[in-house]
Amino acid sequence: MTEKTHENRIAVVTGAAQGIGRELAVRLAARGAKVALVDLKKPVETASLIGDTAIAIEADISNESGWKHVAQLVERDLGEVDIVVNNAGIYPNIVIDELDLDVWRRTFAVNLDAHYFSAKQFLPSMRRKKWGRFVNFSSNSIGIAITGLSHYMAAKMGVIGFVRGLANDVAADSITVNAIRTSSRKACGSSRQSSVLPSQPTSQARSSFSRATTRHSSPGRHLSSTAANTRFPEPFRSAGDPYPAVVLFPKRHTP
Ligand SMILES: NC(=O)c1ccc[n+]([C@@H]2O[C@H](COP(=O)([O-])OP(=O)(O)OC[C@H]3O[C@@H](n4cnc5c(N)ncnc54)[C@H](O)[C@@H]3O)[C@@H](O)[C@H]2O)c1
Repeated sequence: MTEKTHENRIAVVTGAAQGIGRELAVRLAARGAKVALVDLKKPVETASLIGDTAIAIEADISNESGWKHVAQLVERDLGEVDIVVNNAGIYPNIVIDELDLDVWRRTFAVNLDAHYFSAKQFLPSMRRKKWGRFVNFSSNSIGIAITGLSHYMAAKMGVIGFVRGLANDVAADSITVNAIRTSSRKACGSSRQSSVLPSQPTSQARSSFSRATTRHSSPGRHLSSTAANTRFPEPFRSAGDPYPAVVLFPKRHTP
């Protein structure tokens, strides 16, 4: 039986209609969390996998009004948010010669701005409660040689920077902020067909995620020691890639 490590926690999972988001939402629910499932179209299938401890919300998380809508429904139907999983992502594969500003901006809005909006939305109540968890999805692709993803890599690198900075800002209130660098058999966006992405998360993502949201993880604990040493399978490592597969923060001190 799954240990109820997340009982009485309320989690928001973006991009919960399919893929990694769906899997994580189901697993959070199995651990006892009530889960708000957010996607561009109401993720009703995921909700039906979970049952009455989940609500399905249609929202575009790339803008502030989308997040306000999410907050309103979650607080009305479930309560104050404890855990935010910023999983929703897009990965249009377009080489720089053809990349227009709209795609650049949209990629940033979904993959990075959303993380900022979620923090602005839920930090006040987390600070009051002195407990909160953010799990923000970066990507293994930032460390490998791959074409057509300059905009995506820039945004996913931005996630790492934002996570570091945010973690420093909120550590004193027992709020943790972690980034997950998911890897895949074929890296995200490595083909022009989005179907190259697996529908199931990697085992690495599963174990990292579990540690990043657990109620026992605290800002003072150095969760990074083992996770940061996680080795990429050889095909996903590039020579001299300085970034660990998973970045787990924060420490208590300010920079
Ligand atoms: N799967 C991989 O191999 C892989 C590798 C590296 C990184 N990642 C990252 O992991 C995360 C999940 O990947 P996945 O493979 O499950 O992706 P996916 O494409 O299967 O699912 C992403 C979900 O996000 C939703 N979404 C997109 N834009 C949205 C918006 N504006 N508002 C609300 N929802 C939105 C989509 O509708 C979709 O349901 C992404 O951030 C991705 O960049 C995945």
